[in-house]
Amino acid sequence: MKSARAKGKKIGIIGIGNIGTAILRGLLATVDDARFLISDLRRESLNAFAGESRVEICDSNEELAKKADILILAVKPRDVRMVLEPIAPLMTDKLLISVAAGVSTAELERYLGEGKRVIRVMPNIGARVGESVSALCRGSNAVDEDEELADVILSAIGSVYHIKERDMDIITGLSGSGIAFLAEVIDAMADAGVHEGLPRDLALTIAARTAIGAARLILAGDDPATIKAMTASPGGTTIRGLYAMESRAVRAAMMDAVIEATRRSREMNK
Ligand SMILES: NC(=O)c1ccc[n+]([C@@H]2O[C@H](COP(=O)([O-])OP(=O)(O)OC[C@H]3O[C@@H](n4cnc5c(N)ncnc54)[C@H](OP(=O)(O)O)[C@@H]3O)[C@@H](O)[C@H]2O)c1
Repeated sequence: MKSARAKGKKIGIIGIGNIGTAILRGLLATVDDARFLISDLRRESLNAFAGESRVEICDSNEELAKKADILILAVKPRDVRMVLEPIAPLMTDKLLISVAAGVSTAELERYLGEGKRVIRVMPNIGARVGESVSALCRGSNAVDEDEELADVILSAIGSVYHIKERDMDIITGLSGSGIAFLAEVIDAMADAGVHEGLPRDLALTIAARTAIGAARLILAGDDPATIKAMTASPGGTTIRGLYAMESRAVRAAMMDAVIEATRRSREMNK
């Protein structure tokens, strides 16, 4: 079993915000025999885990870095340097897994100093329900075992893909930001249901479940054109709706959303 790789490890998480909380909850639910250490500037975020016997609340990032075997960094990109430089001397022989968007492995290695092992990850907020899409790549000193361990940890919050670092901006656009684009589409479809007379709760649930169905069919091997062919009968309702989408360039708008988000990620990383 994959999670056995994390057995007996002390896993520290710095930054118990949206993503840090989701990762910790996922790990608590799926990885036995590991212990967790957490630190954050916000005491109330830490206190949410006060009753968890496997979680130790640390008073500082330094305390956490001393005690943990593996560190997950889940603070905002602008705070990364400020967090890493003071703990760098404590990171000998420890793995850093960073989820900070747009902070390259080279930059992480620069803050930590020579020879330090880093893995960079781009998760998405689906992590809150165990459906993150996480893409990871390794820095110049990390080894296969580090990548495997990161895979185990990220598997606790969803699916994991191993990619080249140069593709990280595309992943940021496609899944990091893309989950918000799909939420907009679902919301718009629900609005249409309301416009035509459905109660909003029902319309939103049905639109979301329809999106799940489409996603599962595609993941099961039906390509989008097949789904279209199975749904659109001649002169019917689906082809009329597809015509409306074509006339409003919905495909181009969705492509633009991902392309612009990718470009913005590249701009931010310059
Ligand atoms: N949210 C997403 O959808 C998403 C997706 C992919 C990647 N990410 C990445 O994940 C990281 C975290 O994002 P998030 O949305 O979880 O942010 P968040 O909710 O703001 O969580 C970050 C937490 O770190 C704390 N913090 C700041 N400075 C600290 C320090 N010096 N020591 C310890 N804790 C500190 C923050 O406290 P204060 O609020 O007091 O500063 C906050 O509680 C970011 O780098 C982001 O790029 C996020």
